[in-house]
Amino acid sequence: MQAVGVIGAGQMGSGIAQVSAQAGYHVYLADAKLEIAERAKEGIAKQLNRLVEKEKIDAAARDQALARIQPVGDFEPMAAAGLVIEAATEREEVKRAIFEQVGKVLGHQAILASNTSSIPITRLAQASPDPKRFIGVHFFNPVPVMGLIELIRGLATADETVKTVETYAKALGKQVVHANDAPGFIVNRILLPMLNEACFALGEGVASIRDIDTAVQLGLNHPMGPLTLADFIGLDTCLEICRVLHEGTGDPKYRPAPLLVKYVEAGWYGRKVGRGFYDYSGAEPVPTR
Ligand code: 3HC
Repeated sequence: MQAVGVIGAGQMGSGIAQVSAQAGYHVYLADAKLEIAERAKEGIAKQLNRLVEKEKIDAAARDQALARIQPVGDFEPMAAAGLVIEAATEREEVKRAIFEQVGKVLGHQAILASNTSSIPITRLAQASPDPKRFIGVHFFNPVPVMGLIELIRGLATADETVKTVETYAKALGKQVVHANDAPGFIVNRILLPMLNEACFALGEGVASIRDIDTAVQLGLNHPMGPLTLADFIGLDTCLEICRVLHEGTGDPKYRPAPLLVKYVEAGWYGRKVGRGFYDYSGAEPVPTR
């Protein structure tokens, strides 16, 4: 496999495009409009420049990686890709529409993958041309830094599909874990109850935002406190995953914290909008409560 398609040029899609290009794959990068994909490529160039400044890669490697990223205005060129990864917004109807559209040009051997953080793979596969060649490939944010990829097989996913995508993931230098198609897969099944519990604790007045984060960061040696991490992931995304865990298992232990719901209703989605549990408008994040 020499070429990869990436659909969705946001934070995750850009990261996936970057690490794929650095691993030597030609990347077709698409979003709703060509300009968005072009702007994402400029962002990737900045990331690569930083790596050059830090002497992690040399200028030639940067130039080669950038030259491999081809922003595209429609899915047509993805006919040449052996693997197409969808990293669009976490809404099922959006993903289904993408699969139907890209399915029309997808090569007969090519694999379609979704970077969904929570939508069942078996169900999504129904919108793809061939569920045997459909798989979940879950990256973590920030993609260039995080060492893991979760591979999630749907009921119909073929062994050959898993093998091909595992080879790709390893070529990116990532460690692979395999999960079945259960709500939240592995990481989010374990992470989201912790982030949700931090929201319960805050809502119940157990401690301040700062102290909850400091407690977990220093007391458990986590790189970020749970409320900082929830802001980083996006509170809307966190709530969505909590709902998938709650509805998918029917277990009330996964019910979303009322305070998390309130923040999302207020439009305080976290770092990406400048406000979540912290206010990001100044030089340093400031707790909002
Ligand atoms: N893109 C690329 N590189 C980045 C980056 C980004 N967005 N943010 C940080 N980095 C790099 C820095 O350049 C630095 O590299 P260096 O060591 O080579 O100089 C390194 O990461 C450390 O960064 P900093 O020193 O600036 O800051 P920190 O030490 O605080 O690290 C962090 C930042 C890597 C984001 C760290 O805080 C962390 O690991 N946090 C937890 C992240 C996490 O849990 N992610 C998973 C979220 S869950 C998910 O994605 C699943 C989804 O489905 C919800």
